[in-house]
Amino acid sequence: MAQIFDRSSNALARASLVLAGLMVIAIGVTLDQLQRSPWVTRQGQRPEQPVPFSHKHHVQGLGLQCQYCHVTVEKSSYAGIPPTKTCINCHAQIWTNAQLLEPVRTSWATNQSLVWTRVHDLPDFVYFSHEIHVNKGLGCAACHGRVDQMPLMYAQNTLQMEWCLDCHRNPAKNLRPTSQVYNMAWEKPTSDRPVWCSVADEKSGVPTAQSVDCVTRDPAAAGVQVASLELPAGGTKGLTADVVAPRLPTPVSYQKFTSQDELGHFLVQHYKIRTPRDLSSCEVCHR
Ligand code: HEC
Ligand code: HEC
Ligand code: HEC
Ligand code: HEC
Ligand code: HEC
Repeated sequence: MAQIFDRSSNALARASLVLAGLMVIAIGVTLDQLQRSPWVTRQGQRPEQPVPFSHKHHVQGLGLQCQYCHVTVEKSSYAGIPPTKTCINCHAQIWTNAQLLEPVRTSWATNQSLVWTRVHDLPDFVYFSHEIHVNKGLGCAACHGRVDQMPLMYAQNTLQMEWCLDCHRNPAKNLRPTSQVYNMAWEKPTSDRPVWCSVADEKSGVPTAQSVDCVTRDPAAAGVQVASLELPAGGTKGLTADVVAPRLPTPVSYQKFTSQDELGHFLVQHYKIRTPRDLSSCEVCHR
């Protein structure tokens, strides 16, 4: 039988096997690329909306806080999209004739909610909650980017599993003081731009993240200023040390941080963040 196939066909068979293998890989790579492409993840796309609502205008321009509209972001898994009433608070008086706002007025008059197209939408089998992220020092911008500079909303990140895990494996690189969560312009500390943090008595029963107080101005310098303001006319002569430097929230208890690495590890410890291993286990997000 062996004679029917000569040596050259043997080589041919091998070559075609290799070729088939390569094609399988190529298709795999293509599908994988497609799976990650913005076309599938919708990253960066600005979907059609009933009203071209601009975060840039309302946040940067008018100075509105995120919570003014996304009222449940700190206490629920959903940040929430504001009802028409929120828009009407202002637009009953401002831009009342603008064509752009016609859908808002119709919605208000007919009591029919505006139907916004979702920009971020995880599959149902993934559990996500804003509450824990926001209360553990993750800024809106860490996940949504510079919303205050977006004339139209788009997704800054893919929201794919890899993206979640990239942070869960090393949260320290993204943690900031909880007081800075809404600050769109927050930047990581450097030696020119340090951050000072103090920890309140942990036995006092305050929830972990709230017991950490961080400031971006040197608390020692602030202390000196307050002390000199309280000095009576006539100078410091004859006053006890206590009056010259009244007991402020003691500046010595503040620790100075000049890099994200230092600050991040301090916050991981005091916000009681679980280990990367715990945070990467499947049950965290797939319950
Ligand atoms: C005046 C009200 C208002 C304020 C203030 C506001 N938003 Fe929004 N936000 C909306 C509306 C309305 C939508 C839905 C329309 C859209 O996607 O543009 C939205 C959508 C979003 C979305 C996308 C929702 C989705 O479909 O996935 C994100 C993220 C978001 N806002 C973040 C923020 C952040 C961060 C801030 C503060 C810097 C903020 N918003 C301030 C009204 C507001
Ligand atoms: C705190 C008051 C306030 C609220 C709340 C508010 N707006 Fe506005 N909005 C304004 C003002 C002021 C302008 C004019 C801004 C300008 O032209 O500088 C404006 C402008 C607009 C415009 C015109 C385009 C633009 O961005 O300049 C649209 C569309 C709009 N708003 C939609 C909405 C929607 C939808 C909501 C509810 C989710 C809303 N606004 C809530 C004050 C408000
Ligand atoms: C750790 C990342 C992360 C942080 C931090 C974060 N978000 Fe989100 N946000 C998401 C994800 C993921 C979704 C999609 C949720 C879904 O589809 O169930 C989302 C969805 C939203 C939506 C759409 C409506 C909703 O409730 O799902 C709004 C509005 C929003 N975020 C606003 C905010 C605001 C405001 C902040 C800051 C206070 C913030 N987000 C902080 C990841 C984040
Ligand atoms: C920028 C960093 C970051 C990103 C991005 C991020 N997370 Fe988290 N996540 C955290 C931190 C920090 C915690 C708090 C851990 C702790 O307190 O132990 C957390 C906690 C959680 C928890 C635990 C909630 C609980 O109550 O046990 C879930 C679930 C979760 N994240 C899901 C997600 C999903 C899904 C995504 C992606 C869509 C995501 N996270 C993206 C940083 C992040
Ligand atoms: C930090 C949150 C998080 C953790 C931890 C996590 N996943 Fe996921 N997973 C996601 C998200 C978000 C998606 C949806 C991705 C998308 O929409 O593209 C997903 C999707 C999936 C899918 C669907 C296929 C896909 O890739 O889209 C499978 C299967 C899966 N995860 C398995 C696992 C397993 C197994 C583990 C444990 C080793 C795990 N996941 C841990 C967030 C997580």
